[in-house]
Amino acid sequence: MEASTESNWTATNMPDQSGRTVVVTGANSGLGLEATKAFARKGAHVVMACRSLDRANRARRRIESMVTDVSLTVLELDLASQASIRQFVTEFESEFARLDVLLNNAGIMMTPYSTTEDGFERQLGVNHLGHFALTGLLLDHLVETDGETRVVTQSSIAHKSGSGEIHFDDLHGKQSYSRFEAYAQSKLANLLFTYELDRRLRASRADTIAVAAHPGSSATELVSGDTEMDTSVIQQIVRKFVNTFMTQSAVAGALPALYAATAANVDGGHYIGPGGLLEMRGNPTHVVSNATSYDHATARRLWEVSEELTGVTFEFEEPQPA
Ligand SMILES: NC(=O)c1ccc[n+]([C@@H]2O[C@H](COP(=O)([O-])OP(=O)(O)OC[C@H]3O[C@@H](n4cnc5c(N)ncnc54)[C@H](OP(=O)(O)O)[C@@H]3O)[C@@H](O)[C@H]2O)c1
Repeated sequence: MEASTESNWTATNMPDQSGRTVVVTGANSGLGLEATKAFARKGAHVVMACRSLDRANRARRRIESMVTDVSLTVLELDLASQASIRQFVTEFESEFARLDVLLNNAGIMMTPYSTTEDGFERQLGVNHLGHFALTGLLLDHLVETDGETRVVTQSSIAHKSGSGEIHFDDLHGKQSYSRFEAYAQSKLANLLFTYELDRRLRASRADTIAVAAHPGSSATELVSGDTEMDTSVIQQIVRKFVNTFMTQSAVAGALPALYAATAANVDGGHYIGPGGLLEMRGNPTHVVSNATSYDHATARRLWEVSEELTGVTFEFEEPQPA
């Protein structure tokens, strides 16, 4: 993989997005909100895929008051419910003919143990299995849209933390649950999924590529403590320190995903993150994930388990003769 840094790359460097349709999950808050603004400013039609229509519409109105001539649609999507994901796709299909970028951005972090509507451990369910199913159900639209289309999935430097493994023997943390380990596992799953998806897309010679991104440490509700996180006093102090001295703005944190979604020197299977100290902040650049994330056998196994759990099977076209 070719490594390169784009110094001072910002959303203004994004190519024109007029005529393109972009789906952003978790578009009402943090990085998703900033990505939505950036795509909309560049002329894309952005579908804000959010679990709360109320919060999403408030965010949409805020963007419309800040940016002129934006084109936004709000659709309900709860990634903790396979039924909601299917309903979202049905609604998307009834309104839109093309899909240029799917930004799998929504996420939860280090939440106390709970399960999704379908009985999946919640962090794995929302962060990985929800996006796995969503991507599988939208794949036809991505592949059939003319020109290069991209699936970008937000991972995290946290994928390198903890054991750095997928716990196939206890995927849903029923025998032993650690909020931290479950988050790390879900973010590793995001990478394994992206790289395997890209290999399968390449094998079918599709014009769709899959790219991973991470935002370093960015000031959003995820890290400010306003979310479902349940932490000790010591953890709160550490978090405050990190937030104050090592964290970048949500605008900057959205750049790796925007770069992954639009920059010319990004290819399938690449991983984009901030280029500064410990990848916590800085300009978007090509980065490297942990060894497990590149392991083909682990990726294939996770893929099979994810298909089985979600009931979503990806249909890849047979490659056309060259
Ligand atoms: N901020 C960081 O430093 C950081 C670092 C590494 C990775 N990330 C990743 O970046 C992504 C975005 O996080 P953020 O920092 O922007 O956090 P955020 O401000 O908390 O935003 C998270 C978004 O995900 C949505 N969401 C949560 N559960 C959902 C569900 N069941 N269905 C649909 N949407 C759901 C939230 O909706 P509600 O508003 O309804 O809750 C919100 O819109 C996540 O994948 C996170 O893991 C962030």
